[in-house]
Amino acid sequence: MGSPRSKVEIKGFEAKFYDQLLDILTLGQYPRLLKKVFSLMDIKEGSSILDLGSGTGRNACYMLKRAGNDAHFVGLDINEDMIKKARRKCRDYPKAEFINMRIEEPLPFEDEFDIAFISFVLHGFEDYDKDKIVANVQKALKSGGKFYIFDYNEFDLDKSPFYVKFFIRKLECPLAEEFVNLNLKDFLMRFGFDNFKEWTFAGKVIRLLEAEKV
Ligand SMILES: C[S@@+](CC[C@H](N)C(=O)[O-])C[C@H]1O[C@@H](n2cnc3c(N)ncnc32)[C@H](O)[C@@H]1O
Repeated sequence: MGSPRSKVEIKGFEAKFYDQLLDILTLGQYPRLLKKVFSLMDIKEGSSILDLGSGTGRNACYMLKRAGNDAHFVGLDINEDMIKKARRKCRDYPKAEFINMRIEEPLPFEDEFDIAFISFVLHGFEDYDKDKIVANVQKALKSGGKFYIFDYNEFDLDKSPFYVKFFIRKLECPLAEEFVNLNLKDFLMRFGFDNFKEWTFAGKVIRLLEAEKV
């Protein structure tokens, strides 16, 4: 059961039309942003990839396009409608698996993946569950593997434009406001991640953070 302070366990209408809603909310800019994000990631032909909270599979398709047909790809989610959508979207990649599994529960992967990716999911967990998720990723990645977190950046919400304050405080969950105050690099260093790289988008409100398992 997720935290009552979170909105990442999306359901119903929002789950059904998730990609369309994101495209509308970003005035059609989201696919362009995603293309940019996946071009920055160190995905090579044959990279093995773990996607935590894989949603509709839109991100999976971008990653699989770069990793190729034979890539080992596992997407984890808890919403069956999302999982079905992702399987349908990625049907050209028969080796891609989408599994119903909670990412904060112990995961059965060890030294298996070159890349772990989590997009707009981590902000919706209490700190004790973030610990469990990051520990799962640490275990699942090969040494030198890269963990990519695409989510809200760290910034001073009080000094942000009114529409950013409105979005985070009124439309997002309470945990999202805590996330923008979190020093994510320090958090990740506790689990053996280092050599960070980062890219920011949307006026520095969104960030892609790369962390290496050292
Ligand atoms: C905001 S959506 C993001 C989906 C996708 N990562 C993206 O960027 O398009 C959050 C996703 O995380 C999934 N999710 C929420 N809690 C989860 C959990 N505890 N374990 C696995 N997936 C979870 C939801 O079902 C949903 O698909």
